[in-house]
Amino acid sequence: MPVLEINNVTKKFGGLMALDDVSFQVEEGEIRGLIGPNGAGKSTMFKNIAGFYSPSSGDIRYQGQSIAGRKPHNIAEMGVVRTFQETTLFQELSVFENVLVGCHIRSRSNLFAAILGLDRGLQREAEEKVAEVLDFMGLGERREQLASELPLGSQRALAIAIALASEPKLLLMDEPFAGMNPEETNHMMELTRKVQESGISIVLVEHDMKAVMGLCGYLTVLNFGQLLAEGTPEEIRHNERVIEAYLGGAG
Ligand SMILES: Nc1ncnc2c1ncn2[C@@H]1O[C@H](COP(=O)(O)OP(=O)(O)O)[C@@H](O)[C@H]1O
Ligand SMILES: [Mg+2]
Repeated sequence: MPVLEINNVTKKFGGLMALDDVSFQVEEGEIRGLIGPNGAGKSTMFKNIAGFYSPSSGDIRYQGQSIAGRKPHNIAEMGVVRTFQETTLFQELSVFENVLVGCHIRSRSNLFAAILGLDRGLQREAEEKVAEVLDFMGLGERREQLASELPLGSQRALAIAIALASEPKLLLMDEPFAGMNPEETNHMMELTRKVQESGISIVLVEHDMKAVMGLCGYLTVLNFGQLLAEGTPEEIRHNERVIEAYLGGAG
C-alpha cells in the first residue's frame, strides 16, 4: 500500500486553478521529489496534504485513510509533518527549547504542564526525546545556543529536528536546500538520507537539482497546477516537456 495517495486533487483560489486534477502516489520508505517551476503548485500541494488547505475536489489518502479536509494538528498526530522554515523557528529560544516545543505538537494539551514543570515524568521523557533527536541531527553540541545564532545549515537541521520530535512517518520538506553553499548542501543531503534510513518516507520540494537528482529515486513534476511528468531523475532530465517548462519559465 502506498503511504500517500493524491487522487484527482484540484485546488481553486477564485478563478485560479493552483492544482488541476493532480494524481500521484508515494511508496513507503522513498524520497519522492516534487518539482516544477515557480507557481507550479508545489507548496499548495503540501498545504493540502498537511491540512492547511482542503482540496476543492479530489481525495488525499495517508496509509489508506482519507485525510483531505482534516485539521493540521490531526494530520500531524497521524504522522504527516511539514518541516518548519527557519522563519518559524523561535529565534530567541535555545536549540533544545525549540525541539522541546516540537515534542509537544502531537500532545499539545501537555505542552504547558511540561514547560512549567508540573509533570516531572512527562518532562523527563520529553527531554530524553529531544537529546536523542539533537544527537541524530548532529546538533548535540549546539543545544544551548540560541536559534538566531546558528549558521544556515544548522538552522535547517534544527527545523528538521523539530519535525522529528513529533515522530512523523511521512515528512514533507519544502525547499530545505534553498540558499545553501555546496558544503551545506552535501551535509543536508546526508542528513536527509539518514532520516529516510530511520524509516521515514519523505516528499521533497526542491529547486536544487543536485540534491533532487542525488536523493530521489522518482520525481513528480508539476507545471501550472497540472501533473507534467513522472519518472526517474534520469528520465526527467531528458523529458522534452520538462525541459520546455523550465526553459519557458526561465525565459
Ligand atoms: N492563498 C492563495 N491565494 C491565492 N492564490 C494562491 C494562494 N496560494 C498560492 N496561490 C497561487 O497558486 C499558484 C501556485 O502557488 P504555489 O503552490 O505557491 O507554487 P510553488 O510552490 O510551486 O511555487 C500560484 O499561482 C500562486 O500565486
Ligand atoms: Mg513553493
